[in-house]
Amino acid sequence: MTTLLTRTDLPLRLLRRGKVRDVYDLGDALLMVASDRVSAFDVVLPQPVPRKGEVLTLLSAWWFARTRDIIPNHFISVDPQRIAAQYPMLEQCREYWARRAMLVHRAEPYPVECVVRGYLAGSAWSEYRQDGTLAGERLPAGLVEAARLDPPVFSPATKAEEGHDENIPRARMCEILGAEAAERLRAASVALYARGRELCAARGILLADTKFEFGRAPDGSALLIDEAMTPDSSRFWPSDGYTPGIPQPSFDKQPLRDYLEGLARAGAWNKQAPGPDLPAAVVEATTVRYQDAFRRITGAELDQFPLEEPGGT
Ligand SMILES: Nc1ncnc2c1ncn2[C@@H]1O[C@H](COP(=O)(O)OP(=O)(O)OP(=O)(O)O)[C@@H](O)[C@H]1O
Ligand SMILES: [Mg+2]
Repeated sequence: MTTLLTRTDLPLRLLRRGKVRDVYDLGDALLMVASDRVSAFDVVLPQPVPRKGEVLTLLSAWWFARTRDIIPNHFISVDPQRIAAQYPMLEQCREYWARRAMLVHRAEPYPVECVVRGYLAGSAWSEYRQDGTLAGERLPAGLVEAARLDPPVFSPATKAEEGHDENIPRARMCEILGAEAAERLRAASVALYARGRELCAARGILLADTKFEFGRAPDGSALLIDEAMTPDSSRFWPSDGYTPGIPQPSFDKQPLRDYLEGLARAGAWNKQAPGPDLPAAVVEATTVRYQDAFRRITGAELDQFPLEEPGGT
């Protein structure tokens, strides 16, 4: 069992603290440490969620090993033995990073989030309901909430430094990245989503949508970076009981979102930082969901998850 962690202070140079990950600078490599911080509506909540960091890191590692034939990724290792051997200063503080840290190749992130949607939910449903479009492009009329999108729709978003990401049209993505890079990332995203949807479907899960990030490697090639197909970057729905036309229950932060929406409706929270304290039952429901997502997707228990070297380079 890993230590419950809101933040890390490892004896390395901190590059940045994101909402969830603390990123340390190791020159050509980075140590990305997923804390147990949880965010909703882009606000980090005061209470950490036990084992969440472990789930995000090990599930990403699982996906990286299963998608590297589509596009290379930044994964080097999640093996604490190997990481400590390479960075001996980490030996003394293993409980703060082991199983939640991923050693990765550093890349220069492309400033666009690559979202692929196979079902109409969240901000895509809001946009469609209002304008009949998704990322500015027209969709067929008459789609209902949670409708399946065939083929899946690529809907890029800008990576906001502060606040909410904004969906952008494909033309805007081409302006930002150049047409060639934009097309490369679109094609990779769609192929990655197809792999994710297929592997999830075999386990009774609908991968409703997911977000990828890519970076430019020093040799100019594109790498899949950040996290991959985790409950923080995706919506997972049970295939059982899938009912278009209504919001679907999901394996991720649903209990947390429901609680916070309740507070917002009651006028007790305005969806701005600071986030409200979470009752123990909400934290408990959330940790159960994350661990359940891991178990259902990989077919393995988190504790038994072999720290194999899946596709390390
Ligand atoms: N291989 C990599 N090279 C460089 N940067 C990376 C790499 N992989 C991930 N990153 C960046 O590290 C950060 C991970 O932190 P985290 O996911 O907690 O941030 P976030 O809260 O999602 O994002 P932000 O704070 O940017 O809104 C992201 O900014 C991501 O773009
Ligand atoms: Mg992130």
